[in-house]
Amino acid sequence: MSMRFDRHVVIITGASSGIGAATARAFAREQAIVVLADLRPNEALHHQLEGEGTAVLSVTVDVASSADCERLVNQVLERFGRIDVLFNNAGITRRATVEELDEAQWDHVMAVNLKSVFLLSRLVIGPMRRQGGGSIVNTASGWGLVGGDQAAVYCASKGGVVLLTKAMAIDHGPHKIRVNCICPGDTLTPMLSDEARQLGLHGDALAAAASSRPLGRAGRPEEIADAVLFLASGQSSFITGEALVVDGGGLAGSA
Ligand SMILES: NC(=O)c1ccc[n+]([C@@H]2O[C@H](COP(=O)([O-])OP(=O)(O)OC[C@H]3O[C@@H](n4cnc5c(N)ncnc54)[C@H](O)[C@@H]3O)[C@@H](O)[C@H]2O)c1
Repeated sequence: MSMRFDRHVVIITGASSGIGAATARAFAREQAIVVLADLRPNEALHHQLEGEGTAVLSVTVDVASSADCERLVNQVLERFGRIDVLFNNAGITRRATVEELDEAQWDHVMAVNLKSVFLLSRLVIGPMRRQGGGSIVNTASGWGLVGGDQAAVYCASKGGVVLLTKAMAIDHGPHKIRVNCICPGDTLTPMLSDEARQLGLHGDALAAAASSRPLGRAGRPEEIADAVLFLASGQSSFITGEALVVDGGGLAGSA
């Protein structure tokens, strides 16, 4: 197996579950130094990776807090001296129309899904520039490209992530910092079950509904991780500002 990330320092937010945890495992398999950042630490994952010989740092952070983001980046720089990859992945969903949302709910989703990308990215750009480059990958969504029902604030936040990605790619390309995002379709994580329950459905309902997509199923977190590693690696050295759809063809028929 190729080791695209040997001793590269990789920060993953939302690393305790779903797509973040699968991505942490994938980076670890390629010898990266892995920083697991999450509101709720996953000690089992930490110990598993450490047991397999990975250098791991777990940091409990609320990505919506600028103080927490600063503490995270400072801790990583003190311990490892550099940051090669930032994967801004932490996210939450709230299935509701604008009529149903209150202001606090709007602010919370926007802060966790969108403001966090600004808060963390601005802190890593200086160190990446000084070390000669780096790669930022953000998790948007298919619903950052097209609208969805009862998902007003989620769509607004993820649409923001797509264009923030492109704007940062323009500003920081000259510093050899590439910025891309992934747009997953329905993926088998706790978020998908939670989302189904918010809609009053059985926890498996959205996963089952994915059978109508061209590939006939929902995605596995590992399949999203593969795309993240591609965008983070030198294999995508001429790609920046891209929103890569990873959804089994779900959006293939959309404009
Ligand atoms: N699962 C899907 O179908 C799907 C589809 C498209 C996009 N996404 C996006 O993928 C990303 C990962 O989602 P997932 O499906 O793996 O969900 P998940 O719920 O399994 O994992 C999300 C992780 O983010 C963490 N988190 C939440 N709020 C946080 C905060 N304020 N600070 C730090 N960490 C926080 C949670 O503790 C959790 O570990 C999200 O941005 C989500 O919007 C998911």
